[in-house]
Amino acid sequence: MLPDSLWLLVSALALSLPDRTAAQTPSRALLLNTPLALAAANFSSTSTPLLFALPDPPSSSSPLTVSIALCSAASSAAPRFFITNDSQVAVPGPGGGTDVWELVVDSGGLANVTMTMDGGAGKLAVWGGGASDSVEIGASDSGPLHEHLPEPPLLGDSTSNQALLYSPPFGASPLAQPTYPNYTLPPAELAFPTPPDGPLPNYTLILAPLTAALTSQPQTACALRSHADAKTAGDVLRQQNWLRDEQGWRTEWLLDGLTPLTNYTAYTIQDGTKVNGPTYFTTKSASFSCQLVHSLPFCPTTSYAVPLPPPPAQSAAYDSKSLPPAISTPLLAYLTNFTTSLLTSACGRDHYSPLKSCADCQRAYRHWLCAVSFPRCGEFPHVAATATTSASASTAGATGAQQPFAVPAALVPQPSGVPARNPAFPAFSQPYTALLPCLETCYDVDRACPAFMGFKCPRPEFNANVSYGVGFVDGVLGKEGVVGGGSTGAAQDRWGNVWCNPS
Ligand SMILES: *[C@@H]1O[C@H](CO)[C@@H](O)[C@H](O)[C@H]1NC(C)=O
Ligand SMILES: *[C@@H]1O[C@H](CO)[C@@H](O)[C@H](O)[C@H]1NC(C)=O
Ligand SMILES: *[C@@H]1O[C@H](CO)[C@@H](O)[C@H](O)[C@H]1NC(C)=O
Ligand SMILES: *[C@@H]1O[C@H](CO)[C@@H](O)[C@H](O)[C@H]1NC(C)=O
Ligand SMILES: *[C@@H]1O[C@H](CO)[C@@H](O)[C@H](O)[C@H]1NC(C)=O
Ligand SMILES: *[C@@H]1O[C@H](CO)[C@@H](O)[C@H](O)[C@H]1NC(C)=O
Ligand SMILES: *[C@@H]1O[C@H](CO)[C@@H](O)[C@H](O)[C@H]1NC(C)=O
Ligand SMILES: *[C@@H]1O[C@H](CO)[C@@H](O)[C@H](O)[C@H]1NC(C)=O
Repeated sequence: MLPDSLWLLVSALALSLPDRTAAQTPSRALLLNTPLALAAANFSSTSTPLLFALPDPPSSSSPLTVSIALCSAASSAAPRFFITNDSQVAVPGPGGGTDVWELVVDSGGLANVTMTMDGGAGKLAVWGGGASDSVEIGASDSGPLHEHLPEPPLLGDSTSNQALLYSPPFGASPLAQPTYPNYTLPPAELAFPTPPDGPLPNYTLILAPLTAALTSQPQTACALRSHADAKTAGDVLRQQNWLRDEQGWRTEWLLDGLTPLTNYTAYTIQDGTKVNGPTYFTTKSASFSCQLVHSLPFCPTTSYAVPLPPPPAQSAAYDSKSLPPAISTPLLAYLTNFTTSLLTSACGRDHYSPLKSCADCQRAYRHWLCAVSFPRCGEFPHVAATATTSASASTAGATGAQQPFAVPAALVPQPSGVPARNPAFPAFSQPYTALLPCLETCYDVDRACPAFMGFKCPRPEFNANVSYGVGFVDGVLGKEGVVGGGSTGAAQDRWGNVWCNPS
């Protein structure tokens, strides 16, 4: 008497007898680390499955991970995927058997299985599949080829029709810790950062208005790509790898041609198969008149809208080439003088703190100086900011209807013509709304620098809220110093809310 599972297997073999020789030596093969796409034309109309040989990992000790990604929502005839690493199994399928697994996609359209291989025994069978189905299959020796990674892309800032977006960080941050006796700090004017050697991840940005409903697609690279293709919003004016902060490098995109007051959805795709996102953001109203500044080596985190007139014709946003020297020169002088005073202490010899060094102090001061030197423009939220249609949103924008946020942001209206907060800035001819820096930016300097530098931050119970966003990130007044204990726990979120300027 045969055990049930074996009996099923035998009968499955018997049924597919005419195909048997072909089935036992699959004529198609999956290549290691190369995704394979299957669409309607590939699915067989009969009950015969498509059979693929699986590659062996280069090292016999490393397991093979096979992943499936749906490239369109599954139809009622959606294909099923069966896999085996047992050479005795001719065609893995619903009949089961020893070492036969089914890959069942999750709600995000992904599935994966990891198993050890026994020299050329691996097979994958695709059963069924309808005219509207489309999938990608991957085999890899370093985890799933298809993956939805947790960290979303980062919004720098937006104007009415432009935006700065960043991929998740990659590569270790090359922040040098100098040592005694050669305690050298970086100069105020940092060199333009050079990307690390070796292969860098290849990030692609997918951006579409929220109405394009990318979020209702399978959250896979191929689905987002094919759905966004016709609808991709805006134009990429500039793309570069940028060392933004100690978290590491990011790919930066400067986009133009967006629609005012529209809620956009942004994803990044790493090396064609791995997805990060979504991140949401809303463009400002058509009357928003501030300009983006970015790509400043001496202020690497500065990437937001500032109250300056439109930049010279050849640049779409201010960068180190187009920024007026009247703004950069004093900033660099403050930083140079600060660094000189800091180096009069016994940097690297007498440790004023077990945790912080002179290099940390200089970094925190640079960050703070940039945040207070470049006033950031914001905008009170508009009623139709969720952008059901951009047309109705612009009408609401024109009337300037304001909607209270659950937690109002640190926004302060600035009437036109008043002297700028930073005297190096020309008076701005239009009224704008300032988004104040987060108070934590100041506290970071206070914590990182030796006491003799005399750096002081305003106290939350007095007038700190005149110059800073207070109590958003860390706790204040009764919850002092509780990191992340503030009203929002962060300066901004992935839904498009920004409460204070973190950079
Ligand atoms: C899938 O079908 C397309 C179009 O007929 C063909 O070019 C491609 O080679 C097929 N792929 C496989 C893996 O059979
Ligand atoms: C792989 O599949 C398992 C369940 O089979 C799931 O928990 C896991 O999140 C998947 N991994 C990835 C990277 O999708
Ligand atoms: C198939 O993979 C499973 C899980 O990794 C493993 O336990 C089993 O020994 C493998 N079988 C063969 C024939 O390699
Ligand atoms: C001190 O360090 C700097 C930067 O790390 C380096 O450029 C310089 O050559 C060093 N000087 C000496 C004397 O080692
Ligand atoms: C990055 O990916 C895109 C799209 O997948 C491709 O066109 C481009 O050639 C890739 N670039 C590099 C450097 O691999
Ligand atoms: C920097 O220090 C020099 C010399 O001490 C001084 O003349 C200059 O005013 C200082 N600059 C700033 C911006 O503080
Ligand atoms: C954009 O849309 C998302 C999804 O509906 C929502 O959660 C988010 O709050 C919206 N963002 C803004 C700024 O309206
Ligand atoms: C600033 O804080 C003071 C005292 O805590 C409070 O009375 C005032 O309303 C606050 N101002 C703003 C703009 O939040």
